[in-house]
Amino acid sequence: MKPIHQTVRVDLGARSYDVVIGEGVLNGAAEAMAPFLRRKKVAVISDETVASFHLSALLANLDDAGIEHASLSLPSGEGTKDWANLARATEFLLEQKIERRDLVVALGGGVIGDLIGFSSAILRRGVRFVQIPTSLLAQVDSSVGGKTGINTAQGKNLVGAFHQPTLVLADIAVLDTLPKRDLLSGYGEVVKYGLLGDEAFFTWLEEHGPALARGDRAARQHAVLRSVQMKAGIVERDETEEGERALLNLGHTFCHALEKATGYSDRLLHGEGVAIGCALAFELSMRLGLCAQEAPSRVRHHLKSMGMKTDLADISGDLPSAESLMGLMAQDKKVIDGRLRFILAKAIGSAFVAEHVPADAVLSVMTDALAGR
Ligand code: GLY
Repeated sequence: MKPIHQTVRVDLGARSYDVVIGEGVLNGAAEAMAPFLRRKKVAVISDETVASFHLSALLANLDDAGIEHASLSLPSGEGTKDWANLARATEFLLEQKIERRDLVVALGGGVIGDLIGFSSAILRRGVRFVQIPTSLLAQVDSSVGGKTGINTAQGKNLVGAFHQPTLVLADIAVLDTLPKRDLLSGYGEVVKYGLLGDEAFFTWLEEHGPALARGDRAARQHAVLRSVQMKAGIVERDETEEGERALLNLGHTFCHALEKATGYSDRLLHGEGVAIGCALAFELSMRLGLCAQEAPSRVRHHLKSMGMKTDLADISGDLPSAESLMGLMAQDKKVIDGRLRFILAKAIGSAFVAEHVPADAVLSVMTDALAGR
């Protein structure tokens, strides 16, 4: 039976695009891109790991369609999202004479998507680009919505642009090559969607998450589809994060502090920090009397049952004091007028932006979380 491909339209007027989700989508990449090509030429930028698995299939597909291509593979890892690789990628695109009528293709996870999206945004004041996300995190979050950028010495994602892709091709089959830890890290972002806006989806994940982790493609497809539908809706209503889009940062204030405290190292992957951060956000919401007593334990129970990092005790090595972690949160780029803003929840599936969160409540959550280590 032919696998089903599903499409989510991100409706942004002149910047609208489709996200195609399904098994084997990569094999139809040339056909999907063809309507956007004004001449048969693309440049594909990937990372070395992803290229070793998927680049030759994509290039063969382009060859079959008679589409000329140039390709570049950058080193794998978060360190690639920097000025040096931005220059390298952009100059490569200039050397290849990529013009506005051509397409740039970002084949990879969040690092490649963000970096190449940004390069496309500044190349000739903006060329069109296609996202082919190969990690679960990139499929459900970073490839959709047009946030692009790099990290600098001052922090992550502080330099960038909103530049919407022309097309997103999310092939569920490529998730098979992901290490389990990376898959579960991406799953942290999937859980986030249920927690922030769809209790029924969270309930579905409680039931089907284990099958998804084991490799069930139908479960993976549904999880990516529902996540992308939710993200598309939020981005359509608030493309440049003036309001509702901030809900996508559920768990992220805690996560950013923990990522800084662990030096953005292997000790804590981004999605792992998001999962722990979501558990802490529900704990804080409960202590502030905003949500029921049972909500944080239900969140933690699901994360634990998936074998995910759930508590600060799951992070190896030393962590700084609760006060130091609070200091790291205060440096978060989402701080407005020196006040910490949190995404809190009234229930599972009902998050909101809270502007005036008492510092002592946050401190006591962090103190108790550290005491549990
Ligand atoms: N990853 C958060 C956002 O796209 O707004």
